[in-house]
Amino acid sequence: MNNPPIQIIRFGSLASTNLEAAERAIKGAPEGVCIVAAEQTAGRGRLERHWISPKDAGLYFSIILRPTFEQKFWPLITLMSAIAVHDALLEACQLRTDIKWPNDVLFKEKKLSGILAETFDTPSGRAVVVGIGINLTSDSFPPELSATASSVEEATGKRVDHELLLNTLVSFLNAHYDGLKRPEGPDSIIECWRKRSSYAEGKQIRVTESNNTFSGTTRGLEADGALRVQADDGTMKIVRAGDVTAIRPV
Ligand code: BTN
Repeated sequence: MNNPPIQIIRFGSLASTNLEAAERAIKGAPEGVCIVAAEQTAGRGRLERHWISPKDAGLYFSIILRPTFEQKFWPLITLMSAIAVHDALLEACQLRTDIKWPNDVLFKEKKLSGILAETFDTPSGRAVVVGIGINLTSDSFPPELSATASSVEEATGKRVDHELLLNTLVSFLNAHYDGLKRPEGPDSIIECWRKRSSYAEGKQIRVTESNNTFSGTTRGLEADGALRVQADDGTMKIVRAGDVTAIRPV
């Protein structure tokens, strides 16, 4: 049941820790290999977005996983990773955050961390690379980001101990991934996520899908982590991909 040992490989600068991890996974690197960079020159976000990654201003981290449980539950890996980020920030920085479905960690509705889980076919089977970016300081944010993004330093008023946060994150990832692999894992990850997210139930949101936008109220998660939303016209929608934004009550 236990995970293989974690190996952390550090770089000064990389295009993207996810790409480095993917290349290594394709060459046979085992589950548990982690890539960390002080800066990224082509950091990748969801939906083809760019993840701004100035030197030492964020934690830029990717881990290789080789899950053997049913693939229909793999979307829960993103939720599990968001839980690990939430728990690591609480323990290492005494910072309580919120989780926005599926993969954003927020402080006062501003984004503090994002997660990009990508699958890659490798000679020894399909691997998942989980990339995590945590904003540590807002010093080098471009002005257009400051309305929507925050950093651990801005939220706590304290310098962040990078090593402590990295080690705490790795240890929560290990523990929650171990939990997810158990037979009751999917249900318990959903329960953990619900407890940490104001978006799980009763939140008014706007959903933007590839060719559709609607607003509604959240009504929990499906067994595979998809978001249930009761649209304003009364119909129940299941959201598996898309962007969610909170609608502020008038
Ligand atoms: C998102 O919210 O859009 C996901 C952002 C994920 C960013 C991290 S930083 C480390 C890893 N390497 C990347 O290129 N992206 C992820």
